[in-house]
Amino acid sequence: MENLNHSNIEGYRSGSVTAVAHSNIALVKYWGKRAVQNNLPAVGSISLTLDALYSKTNLELKDRLDQDIFVLNEKEVEGKQLRRISDFLDLAAGTKDRPKAHIESENNFPTGAGLASSASGFAALALAVNDRFGLNLDRISLSALARQGSGSAARSLYGGFCEMKLGTKEDGSEDVAIQLHDQSHWDVRLLVAVTSTQKKELGSTEGMNRTAQTAPFYDEWIASQPTDLEEMKKALSARDFEKVGELTEHSCFKMHGLALAARPPILYWNAATTETIHRVWKLRQNGIQAYLTIDAGPQVKILCLPESVETIKEAVLGVKGVEHIIEAKPGTAAHIVDPEKEIIL
Ligand code: PMV
Repeated sequence: MENLNHSNIEGYRSGSVTAVAHSNIALVKYWGKRAVQNNLPAVGSISLTLDALYSKTNLELKDRLDQDIFVLNEKEVEGKQLRRISDFLDLAAGTKDRPKAHIESENNFPTGAGLASSASGFAALALAVNDRFGLNLDRISLSALARQGSGSAARSLYGGFCEMKLGTKEDGSEDVAIQLHDQSHWDVRLLVAVTSTQKKELGSTEGMNRTAQTAPFYDEWIASQPTDLEEMKKALSARDFEKVGELTEHSCFKMHGLALAARPPILYWNAATTETIHRVWKLRQNGIQAYLTIDAGPQVKILCLPESVETIKEAVLGVKGVEHIIEAKPGTAAHIVDPEKEIIL
């Protein structure tokens, strides 16, 4: 894993800290790694941070423990999942010789079901360890740290609209996220049509690696990404909803088409996913500005403007298999909270 600059370490802190980070949805997708070492993405990406979906993580360092304790949604986690957390803490501390941590984390939405729980989870964890390890990392360095937990986590450090940069260096120092616009830039809405709360069968890392190794159009995917990113940045600055929507759908279907061309093929959708796609397109034919995107799971995320929310909800809730809809607005940056107080979305 990449070496972070630890020259600012002030020392470990006692007591606990609580951090909140919101999930994010990629409008221009990340799919594929240019190096597994340091978890370096093969393409840049652009996202929207979502207020309604978040992880809340409490961390306390404890000298007496001989291994980290990680409790996720009130259940203690062991094995591979715990190792992923412990490796992340070793990396953040710059050593394995560190106090162990007791971490309690909760997501206010289904975990591991294509709703970017690893994005909000690792962003909150990065913020919490930064505080308790006394790292004094700035946002950009925090995004590089979070990226090593999960690629999309780098983007959850920021509120509003954000870009994950594609670097060229092996050490990953350029593969960082920056904010494009804060949450007040544009009052768009993202409706998440939940079609299943089951954990996905194929994780995003395995899905990406299989795609990179076997999909025949993978090089074209990489080559066409810079144009999508540039066009999206322009459209977001201009608040051009139609263009943002069109680019969002294009990037989504390009990614899923590519994954389908892997061997064996990768398909994250279920019947309700497909039905919802058609419903959104039908709405558009009827003059409602609604555009969709889908991640490594069966949920359909619909980008729209506030005035269309109710019409879209009604139409999509009528699709067989759509369990419920979560409505999100642009969310705030990851932040430290007082655990007793209400969360600021
Ligand atoms: O950060 P990961 O490894 O969970 O990968 C995220 C992949 C997508 O959600 C499908 C796309 C993206 O850019 O968030």
